[in-house]
Amino acid sequence: MTALLEVNDLVVDYGHGRRAFRALDGISLDIAPGECLGLVGESGSGKSTLGKAILGLAPVTSGSIRFEGQEISGLGRRARRRLADDVQVVFQDPYGSLNPAMTIGDILAEPLLTTGIGATAAESKVREMLDRVRLPESVMDRYPSEFSGGQRQRIAIARALVRGPRLIVCDEPVSALDLTTQATILDLFIELQRDTGVAYLFVSHDLGVVRRVCHRVAVMYRGEIVEIGDGEQVTRSPQHPYSERLRLASPVADPVAQRERRAGWLALREVRDAAVR
Ligand SMILES: Nc1ncnc2c1ncn2[C@@H]1O[C@H](COP(=O)(O)OP(=O)(O)OP(=O)(O)O)[C@@H](O)[C@H]1O
Ligand SMILES: [Mg+2]
Repeated sequence: MTALLEVNDLVVDYGHGRRAFRALDGISLDIAPGECLGLVGESGSGKSTLGKAILGLAPVTSGSIRFEGQEISGLGRRARRRLADDVQVVFQDPYGSLNPAMTIGDILAEPLLTTGIGATAAESKVREMLDRVRLPESVMDRYPSEFSGGQRQRIAIARALVRGPRLIVCDEPVSALDLTTQATILDLFIELQRDTGVAYLFVSHDLGVVRRVCHRVAVMYRGEIVEIGDGEQVTRSPQHPYSERLRLASPVADPVAQRERRAGWLALREVRDAAVR
């Protein structure tokens, strides 16, 4: 199958000359239509930079980024705006990315109206999107500050979806949410992908999160990909020592596994107590 997105030997440097910092150093990966590729790695490893490079928001030094076979790094402003039909983004903090002075209805209609579609058609599309993210139509007249973090993330997802993109860059989209809300938003991402066939580049520092939503996972370390492969395999039995370190550092979210770990720990303690008695 031809890739939807193809990144080849991508290098991103921030700053120039002696101050230059290489944030991405020869990244290559691809994403198939309808696929979710997870991107994990410690803070500063370059995950957001890769997302930004795809969105045209990071300075590409060399290498290529192709979307449906077309080079998209270094696009002019106009072509970039056209590409927004196909490539969208959801950030960690929806509050920062939703205009607090606009109603939800206007926030969702705006990306449509810029394409020249009429107000009535835009409104019916907005209603359809709200339904998809499980928000009632009544939210249209309200403002971002009136919603919880999880609801705001639903709004941000609806906005990303409204133009029917093929790829969404999701940068830590559930990291600011409590665990229960995380789980429902992750399920929403999975459901939307199943229904629309959209692909995700899903950035997270949490292996449990990417395991839940991603088909494949790439592990980044200091601007490079050290391992990429099947999501279950990379998150449960990684090959690279750095990925294994990430795995051991992550808390066990699965309650059954957590109970087993705890039971194992208690059994160890009993043996120890018996020995000192
Ligand atoms: N605009 C910038 N100018 C200079 N350096 C930057 C810039 N943005 C990021 N960096 C540096 O590039 C490196 C990668 O940053 P990036 O934000 O991609 O990491 P990350 O993996 O997303 O981390 P986190 O998990 O904390 O979000 C870091 O060392 C960071 O300090
Ligand atoms: Mg980041």
